Amino acid sequence: MRQISQILQKKRVFLTRTLHNFALNELKKKYQIEIHSGEIPIPKTKLLKKIQNVEGLICFPYDKIDKEMIDAAKNLKVISTFSVGYDHIDTQYALKKKIRVGYTPEVLTDATADLAFSLILDILRRVSEGDRTIREGKWRQIYGAYDYVGIDLQGKTLGILGLGRIGSTLAKRAKAFDMKIIYHNRKSISKNKEKALRAKYVTLDKLITQSDIISIHVPHTKETDQLFDMKVFRKMRKTAYLINTARGKIVNEKDLTVALKKKIIAGAALDVYENEPIGKKHPLTKIQNIVLVPHIGSSTKETRAKMAKITIKNLELGINGKKPIYSVGY
Ligand code: DGY
Repeated sequence: MRQISQILQKKRVFLTRTLHNFALNELKKKYQIEIHSGEIPIPKTKLLKKIQNVEGLICFPYDKIDKEMIDAAKNLKVISTFSVGYDHIDTQYALKKKIRVGYTPEVLTDATADLAFSLILDILRRVSEGDRTIREGKWRQIYGAYDYVGIDLQGKTLGILGLGRIGSTLAKRAKAFDMKIIYHNRKSISKNKEKALRAKYVTLDKLITQSDIISIHVPHTKETDQLFDMKVFRKMRKTAYLINTARGKIVNEKDLTVALKKKIIAGAALDVYENEPIGKKHPLTKIQNIVLVPHIGSSTKETRAKMAKITIKNLELGINGKKPIYSVGY
């Protein structure tokens, strides 16, 4: 009898996908949890139904938590997203409705910067292309002087758009490879930090025109939506490369496809796309001078476990009316 009343008293938590077992076990001790299985991302109609009755929500990028969803969430105290990006959540509206929003920055900084740097190495040294060449049985001649030549990183100018946590960590990697670093932010960072990273502040226009490689590390907002379009590609060096591990909608994929086909820029490497997942029929998959990976910026064993830990901690704090460790707003 007591057990039943305890279960009934437990707050309810809905997860739009499953999480690590240790995290689920922790949650189960304290909450009545339900995990969505099946179509990913969860269909809107299902989430609208589920969100009505719960006090806590654990969600992921591409689960759209908009005004309609928030209005349906009559009992919700906290939205805890398993990501650093929260552009899928109408955070302002959630905060207006006194719903806390937790997210997972810091722990994924190294992993995401590592991926951005590995994409730079990959596209400049044609690693994935070489792998494809062998698998397709096209490696015919040994050691030809002009075969599979790539580009040196040393001395090249890396333009970092968004020198925040991930951008700065990428700058450290680039410094070790003797690259020149320029960056653009809304505001320049302190002179001391610039000196430590050997990074020079430039206008957005200069970043676009002077970089050999541009790496994007800004969130997707109204200002950054479709920022990289044909106008920008035409301003970039013909020899330049674009790296995107931030959000897909910052780049106009149609324009990028044309820019790569027509060699308006030299190449690109993407971890994120306008709509995910992309399939093998997507026009970008038909292009050689591009590297495509499936949104794996934070995807290491260690980092994902840390993200799970923070996600459940954020949830626990928010559900009890407290500020999450990493909180958007209050
Ligand atoms: C995030 O956490 O927002 C990233 O996109 C994960 O790679």
